[in-house]
Amino acid sequence: MNTGISTFEAPSAAAAGSDILSIALIGPEEQRRKEAATALLLCENVEVREFPNYPATLEDVPRLLEQNSDVIVIDIDANPEYALELVEAICVNGAATVMVYSSKLAPDLLMRCMRAGAREFLSPPFEHKTIAEAIVRASSRRTTVTRQPRKTNGRLLVFLGAKGGAGVTTLACNFAVALAQESGQSTLLIDLDLPLGDAALNLGIVTEYSTVNALQEAGRLDASFLNKLLVKHSSGVSVLAAPGKFPQFHADNESISKLMTVARQEFDNVVVDVGARLDLTDSALFKDAYTIYLVTQAGIPELRNSNRLISQFFTVGSPKLEIVINRYEPRALGVSDDAIAKALTRPANWKIPNDYAAVRQMQNTATPLALGDSPISRLIKQMATAICGQRATQPKKKGFRLFG
Ligand SMILES: Nc1ncnc2c1ncn2[C@@H]1O[C@H](COP(=O)(O)OP(=O)(O)O)[C@@H](O)[C@H]1O
Ligand SMILES: [Mg+2]
Repeated sequence: MNTGISTFEAPSAAAAGSDILSIALIGPEEQRRKEAATALLLCENVEVREFPNYPATLEDVPRLLEQNSDVIVIDIDANPEYALELVEAICVNGAATVMVYSSKLAPDLLMRCMRAGAREFLSPPFEHKTIAEAIVRASSRRTTVTRQPRKTNGRLLVFLGAKGGAGVTTLACNFAVALAQESGQSTLLIDLDLPLGDAALNLGIVTEYSTVNALQEAGRLDASFLNKLLVKHSSGVSVLAAPGKFPQFHADNESISKLMTVARQEFDNVVVDVGARLDLTDSALFKDAYTIYLVTQAGIPELRNSNRLISQFFTVGSPKLEIVINRYEPRALGVSDDAIAKALTRPANWKIPNDYAAVRQMQNTATPLALGDSPISRLIKQMATAICGQRATQPKKKGFRLFG
């Protein structure tokens, strides 16, 4: 995570510089993962974040390591061969203690896990004593192994539209809110859709200063200057809005790069709404992004633009690119899922349903969807937790109830 001064906070909020051990728990099989989470949480001074999927490819491992977890616990059974490769890639490149769990007590599997670099081999039912001892070993290892230097930069998460009106602002705003809430980390939303960006309007925020102030004064931009330009939304997200007026202003790549550098030194997460500004694709935004969300819809013009964009800017299998189909309705406009995947050259990562009423209500009340519960908000939360994991909590005890 980011490590500027403010960034030593979560997910290792607690973890950084304290006795709290931050644990990333990767388990595609939910029941087993929950059991493991419950067992881990019984140990003292741990913080557990759950990831329901393995990283899609080994190329994603560096991004996993950027989370700077002290311990990474991996379910082996869901896909043993891939999980072993994952263990190896993590152990070669990172300082985290890797633990694996499997319900098969096969000696050859155990041997292969250890050769790949795993330090502990756990199996359900997870006994408290065994887990607690493993955690103690990991804690003492943390103090002896040099921890990876924390990255100095927060994550840059860029939302780009295949076409104006695709839904970039709606998704970027709500994603920023969801990410701030789910991660507990400092999060900044920057509206770079100049000159007419309306992210602030979506969040019901009035601002005095804008992205243009930051870019115009890029030469003297630093943390304290940036902070003066921001407004904090009630959800915790800081916002650098587009200007209310309509200035003639051309942002050059150098200024954008400076703004991103300062923003990422200050914030764990920097979410950028670039609208459909394709002229920015060769800027630092795209080079340094942790994830680029290409927002499109399932109509012919949007799909055609997406296809051009993907083939021009994103190499095959680029781990950075995630495709979001917004206003998705199964079989809408007669475009089948297969045809969509073909146009996009790959299946979409996310499909956000069309919900005009919910979005309208958000705009009229300026209450982010991400703060409520709806099909859209649930998906946006999933997008956020795919980035930061989900904080594991102890299941509520089923107490004896006399009535009902
Ligand atoms: N999932 C959705 N369901 C229904 N309406 C949506 C959805 N996403 C966006 N909209 C509507 O589409 C319009 C364009 O969205 P916006 O986020 O402003 O797009 P962009 O920023 O890409 O131009 C807005 O009026 C918004 O309310
Ligand atoms: Mg917009």
